[in-house]
Amino acid sequence: MIRINKETCIGCGRCACDCFPGAITVMEKAELSNPAACIGCGHCVAICPVSAVSYDGLPADDIIPSEKDVPPEKMLGLMRSRRSCRHFKATSLPDETLNSLLQAARACPTAKNLQATRYITVRERIPELLDLALDTLGRIGQKQSETATDPSEIRRAENFIRWREQRRTDPDFDPLFFHAPQLLIFVSPEDSVCDAAAAAAYTELMAASLDLGCLYSGYFTACAAMSPKIRNLLGIGEAERLVRCLVLGYPDVSYPRTAPRNPPQVTYL
Ligand SMILES: Cc1cc2nc3c(=O)[nH]c(=O)nc-3n(C[C@H](O)[C@H](O)[C@H](O)COP(=O)(O)O)c2cc1C
Ligand code: SF4
Ligand code: SF4
Repeated sequence: MIRINKETCIGCGRCACDCFPGAITVMEKAELSNPAACIGCGHCVAICPVSAVSYDGLPADDIIPSEKDVPPEKMLGLMRSRRSCRHFKATSLPDETLNSLLQAARACPTAKNLQATRYITVRERIPELLDLALDTLGRIGQKQSETATDPSEIRRAENFIRWREQRRTDPDFDPLFFHAPQLLIFVSPEDSVCDAAAAAAYTELMAASLDLGCLYSGYFTACAAMSPKIRNLLGIGEAERLVRCLVLGYPDVSYPRTAPRNPPQVTYL
């Protein structure tokens, strides 16, 4: 809920003009005239020249001066230089680093400003999740091997079965998380999965700017969709979806140049 300080409001009208659902009117001073329409986007907080608008439920120092002076070539350079990391050091991430990643995630825009994504951070229970995921992949592989006809499908099914066997004999084998010390999992209601995916993309870029290694684990995401045991361990409800799993840690690899990408396929109309 937003609050307008009538003492300090100078009646400039900027908040009302930028309030997309039309929840504010300004006569001499601004007023939240239609609170039911407010989606809590905070534009009125952000735009007011005299800080007359505040937002309940968050500490005052949560709002910071806008910071947008990242040169475009630096921004694009970071985006092009981030790589999927599959070699991690064992060193854990400090809490403040994890917090910076979560701050990046929450900064992401969401449809209707729903902000419905929630996050699960996993450290101690990574080995258990790895066992459950590789068991699940083994089962998927077995099922696929009974019906697969395409050579690449057959190869993939065989890989999944082999991974499960190898994990059973070698507890050091980790083809999913690559011994990373941290997972950050993005969970959302079914109707907000795009928001959770976007939040993960923000977080991945923040990880790159913090010189962390980061990997999307699509395999683990697929396993979570198939395994009630994984969802139980993580406390994911019936109406929720595990949308993304980011594997995080300090990288034990570096890339001195960017990787090739296809030219963009663009239609100009
Ligand atoms: C949604 C998503 C899921 C992915 N899942 C996996 C995965 O399970 N295992 C893996 O090793 N890489 C995974 N990747 C990494 C891709 O293989 C990688 O992004 C791609 O090869 C390009 O390399 P780059 O990320 O270093 O630019 C995933 C990437 C995305 C975006
Ligand atoms: S938070 Fe957004 S929707 Fe609500 S009053 Fe402010 S600008 Fe309008
Ligand atoms: S932007 Fe701030 S000063 Fe201007 S009308 Fe709104 S509350 Fe008042």
